[in-house]
Amino acid sequence: RGRPLALCSHGGTGRPGSRYSGSAETLSGLVLGVYEKEKDDDGVLFTEAAASFDSSVSGKLRELLSLSGPPLKLGKSRVFYGLHQDFASVAVVGLGKKGVGVCGKENWDNCKENIRAAVSAGCRQLQDLEIPQVEVDPCGDGQSAAEGALLGLFEYDELKSKKKFPVTPQLHVCASWEPHTVYPLGRIKIRPCHRFLRWLTNRYNASQKPQSWIESEQMGAYLSVSKGSEEPPVFLELHYTGSPDSSQAPLVLVGKGITFDSGGISLKPSSGMDAMRADMGGAATVCSAIVTAAALKLPINIIGLAPLCENMPSGKANKPGDVVRAKNGKTIQVDNTDAEGRLILADALCYAHSFNPRAVVNAATLTGAMDVALGSAAAGVFTNSNWLWEQLHKASVITGDRVWRMPLFQHYTKQVTESALADLNNIGKYSRSGGACTAAAFLREFVTANHWAHLDIAGVMTNKDEVPYLRKGMSGRPTRTLVEFAAVLATEP
Ligand code: BES
Ligand code: ZN
Ligand code: ZN
Repeated sequence: RGRPLALCSHGGTGRPGSRYSGSAETLSGLVLGVYEKEKDDDGVLFTEAAASFDSSVSGKLRELLSLSGPPLKLGKSRVFYGLHQDFASVAVVGLGKKGVGVCGKENWDNCKENIRAAVSAGCRQLQDLEIPQVEVDPCGDGQSAAEGALLGLFEYDELKSKKKFPVTPQLHVCASWEPHTVYPLGRIKIRPCHRFLRWLTNRYNASQKPQSWIESEQMGAYLSVSKGSEEPPVFLELHYTGSPDSSQAPLVLVGKGITFDSGGISLKPSSGMDAMRADMGGAATVCSAIVTAAALKLPINIIGLAPLCENMPSGKANKPGDVVRAKNGKTIQVDNTDAEGRLILADALCYAHSFNPRAVVNAATLTGAMDVALGSAAAGVFTNSNWLWEQLHKASVITGDRVWRMPLFQHYTKQVTESALADLNNIGKYSRSGGACTAAAFLREFVTANHWAHLDIAGVMTNKDEVPYLRKGMSGRPTRTLVEFAAVLATEP
């Protein structure tokens, strides 16, 4: 906060202080920002860094920009060669209009979003040109520029033989160009799941609770899902104690951790089923948020809970019409085995209350209906607390990884509490209608905390090309919003 920082600074490979020597093996590139002018007839409006670069090359950049075509539109870039001895290529990127700031209609900060999109486009263009080291203009907001660079360059290619060209981005943090200072940015790393768990276990107060523990906790709803698979369940518990008062009530984050959702006996169609490897996105975002909060040393106590298991159709799997008993004693009729997320979360939410939390926030790729409702624009937030809504909303305006409030009406509660055989039914009475809302109403039956929020993140799980600074694939959303939220909360008394 207040200084440029990578999202996940662990495992950084940035090389501080290394400069382009002019030799072929250490080619450097530069990304510089330029604003859109109000009237397009009066030249170029540079950022501070771009202006000082331009004067270090005697105004050549301004000249070339005017000669090479119309003013750059937001997110578009143009590359120039041979301008400066330190930089083989200079990518100039369009930042849109200057000083746009927070937009009430869009619910985000246009300035920050524009910087993320533009810097990401510039970095990718230099990556395509196989420039290994790229210096980035902070564009007046180093944090957003760093996010644009790192998120824009990241692609999960660990399992491919042919990797994306590796680029080390650095943030330019000085007004003058010779000599100048760069700030290394860590590359985001995704560790293979098991290694990541072991790493967490060693580094944080983390435990992986086995099936015997889950049984002793009487988490019957969770166990009913996991028993359909050959793979045993693991309940992950992370403790980060960052508050100077170690007894301060914690924020408890709970994440849905279905490591594969086949649908179970209510089997999903095969087309697109592969995406259900990401049905642990809630667990992933919660773990990442806690690791990042710890890297930032936020003065707050956070506990992360993630029930992990598969949802598979074996001879031992849940059958439609089965009745299971959750940790709080409530019975649930499982009419659709594909509505498994709410079953595992029911038990995890009950357990979350044993920590006397100041707030409970869960994240889950819970319903296809959430994707139908909002698509990838925002995660749906269902909450019993106006205060919690305001905190989450405030955080999301800053990060651009947006949230939108959804209703928790009794109307929906009725549709899950009128079950033929049990206290609750795991699907709404009118099956598809208001599917995201009935799922949230179901979860609420396991909550007694005054400040609870459920984030349905099914719609933001993947990125095609909607968010310009994220590559295609699993999006990692809304990790940045959870981190920002924790940071906001850390400053609250
Ligand atoms: N994991 C899915 C929801 C999902 C769908 C996430 C698409 C991401 C993308 C969840 O377990 C599920 O299958 N929900 C059912 C609920 C229904 C049976 C009431 C759904 O949405 O169809
Ligand atoms: Zn499912
Ligand atoms: Zn699922």
